[in-house]
Amino acid sequence: LRSSNGVLTVALESSSQQVSIAGRDVRALSYNGGVPGPTLRVRAGDILNVSLRNGLTDPSNLHVHGLHVSPENNSDNMFVTVDAGDSFDYRYELPTNHPPGVYWYHPHHHGLVADQVFGGLYGAIIVEDAEEIPATRERVLVISDMTFDSSGTISAATEMEKMSGREGELVLVNGQLVPDLSASPGERERWRVINACTSRYLRLRLDGQQLTLLGIDSGRFESARDVDEVVLAPGNRADLLVTARAGTSTLRALRYDRGASGGMMGGGTTSSADVVLATFAVAGADTDEFTAVPDQLAPRDLRSAAVTARRELVFAMGMGGGMGGSMMSATINDRTFDATHVDTTVQFGSVEEWTLTNTSTLDHPLHLHVWPMQIIEQDRQSVESAIWQDVVNIPARSMVRVRIAFDDFSGRTVYHCHILDHEDAGMMGIITAR
Ligand code: C2O
Ligand code: CU
Ligand code: CU
Repeated sequence: LRSSNGVLTVALESSSQQVSIAGRDVRALSYNGGVPGPTLRVRAGDILNVSLRNGLTDPSNLHVHGLHVSPENNSDNMFVTVDAGDSFDYRYELPTNHPPGVYWYHPHHHGLVADQVFGGLYGAIIVEDAEEIPATRERVLVISDMTFDSSGTISAATEMEKMSGREGELVLVNGQLVPDLSASPGERERWRVINACTSRYLRLRLDGQQLTLLGIDSGRFESARDVDEVVLAPGNRADLLVTARAGTSTLRALRYDRGASGGMMGGGTTSSADVVLATFAVAGADTDEFTAVPDQLAPRDLRSAAVTARRELVFAMGMGGGMGGSMMSATINDRTFDATHVDTTVQFGSVEEWTLTNTSTLDHPLHLHVWPMQIIEQDRQSVESAIWQDVVNIPARSMVRVRIAFDDFSGRTVYHCHILDHEDAGMMGIITAR
């Protein structure tokens, strides 16, 4: 679905549906009957109107992940609740300088986010480029994982799975198990890859093909870089060019060790085995004629900006009180989410530096709504180029520093761990810019 004359108006209905996945008739959650939901294509300066009807039996709502839009009123307001059977009209105004790139939408009703996303509620949003990037074909690859029980319904997560973050048994590309993709040699494809998994990290490889990374999350790097693999934490997206070379390759997610929940509950392990996601068959003779990928406008760079405030966010997990002390706690600065408490107040127009410290034995991918983060320091080293992301992974027992420019929008929104089970457990804070 593509905007015309600067406006895209769509109706999305969430519901529980009979769908066919991996050759089985199963029941999943879907937007407009499909998993994933429809892809929405807009441009900077456009208006996106979404009329959401909640056909689920639980409350829900809609979040446009990564879009730089107002966090208030009928825009990207995660405090809105759309009760079962109700509708809500969202209106998102993209600023004229909105970065191009790969974004996505999913529900954000606190406490139900992991269940609803794991159930199948997500879709892609593409903010198209102002200038042409030479590619012969574009594919949107929404990668998600699901588990079905023997009756063909989505499995509920155990407390143990919630602790480490549930990972599905089936890893799907656009709702399909190991789809066959094909191309001709010499084609250069644009792949828009979204990690819509609830907790699974994707360390992606496509051996035998040439991968060029244009950007991660919002915007693009100043110059494209050739890569062997791309690691996407839950919520991250990649904007890739694939130069097709003769032969058959497999798109794989290699084992990624995101730590273990330790002895806390008998030690859940979180390093998933290698998974084949898709095959990519390229038949014919190779060619070598390609147009160069144009460099981008230099992205904004806050490394030399004057920092007006510094703060520290500490991510921790442990066993809380609860019955028998078996309740997990997932905290930021020793607090769990409280809808009535503003955790962080920033001054509109300021540039802040945040030190993100992870004291736990599991990785936590931090996501901040509305304002992207520039990574300043990682693995105890300064980052030598301007890298902007809206989900930044904080590896187990380590520290990352980011800078954020709080401009364009004021209002109230959230930051949280994008392992959605952790978010639902309260690893989320409220931020107000004013
Ligand atoms: Cu992708 Cu606050 O969410
Ligand atoms: Cu988001
Ligand atoms: Cu987490």
